Amino acid sequence: MSLRGFTWLLILGHVIAITGCGSDAAERHAGTPEDPWVIGMSQCNLGEPWRVQMDADVRAAAADHDNLRVIFKDAQNSSLVQRAQVEEFVQQGVDLIIISPKEAAPLTRPVAEAYRGGTPVIVLDREVQGEEYTTFIGADNVRIGREAGRWISEQLGGTGKIIELKGLMTSTPGQDRNQGFLEGLELDQNPGLEIVFTGEMQWLEPNARREMESALATNPEIDVVYAHNDPGAHGAWLAARAAGRQGEMMFVGIDALPHEGQQYVEQGILDATFLYPTGGAEAIELALRILRGEEVPKKIVLGTRIFTQENAGEGGRPIN
Ligand code: FRU
Repeated sequence: MSLRGFTWLLILGHVIAITGCGSDAAERHAGTPEDPWVIGMSQCNLGEPWRVQMDADVRAAAADHDNLRVIFKDAQNSSLVQRAQVEEFVQQGVDLIIISPKEAAPLTRPVAEAYRGGTPVIVLDREVQGEEYTTFIGADNVRIGREAGRWISEQLGGTGKIIELKGLMTSTPGQDRNQGFLEGLELDQNPGLEIVFTGEMQWLEPNARREMESALATNPEIDVVYAHNDPGAHGAWLAARAAGRQGEMMFVGIDALPHEGQQYVEQGILDATFLYPTGGAEAIELALRILRGEEVPKKIVLGTRIFTQENAGEGGRPIN
């Protein structure tokens, strides 16, 4: 093909791409059972039970509305893939995007571009930077971390050696659960508390197990492991059990899924876990309000509960 022909093809491709962008109000669906609203849901990873639950919650809530259809995509723990998914949803002309982003920085631009182009975006659980999206829904991770710090400090009576296994620190819950934890421990007022080891397990159980093996090898005395999620706490427990040391220390996690963290507490594997609600049902409720043209809050903060050996059987205790 001549260079000229190729240039024309490129221009043509560009025009098609532009006109194919369906964020025009005129191209929107009516939101009726015959012509339902289409929501694109980009999940950062389906390799973890909590995220499978989030998609299930979205699916269940959407099933109550015959004027909605949800297209699910799994970014398989890649920010690059997730960015492409957001761009594809815009190209496809979905009516609204729900994204639970893997990392804040790399997903900020695609979310902002979708929003600026007229596609409403609900950011769920992990945050992006800035405010160029429609609504954020999630629990207060600083608060959850702080409550975990306070609970642990209380249990230790102000003296003890602590391990912290952090989530992915380029994601906001990792940063917030660390910050809140340090606030809750009040190390300057509790000189007997000491963080003897920290590791970044990036939310993943096998990584937590590996980090904990290092922690065990270098620390003859450990009183408590605080992991930023239940898979992390469970991975740490597996490592301690393999070393025959699980009885020496407490294990605390976050998520409290009924079939995961709550069960670990009931089995005596974890000493405590804090509920991290998926927000899936709330996202669908908000999506409907946005699609109907209602004003919605910029931020919706979900509550938490603590589950311990004492209260796990009764559904935990709310934290107000
Ligand atoms: C799942 C998960 C949860 C955690 C949340 C934080 O990917 O790691 O265990 O609470 O993400 O965003």
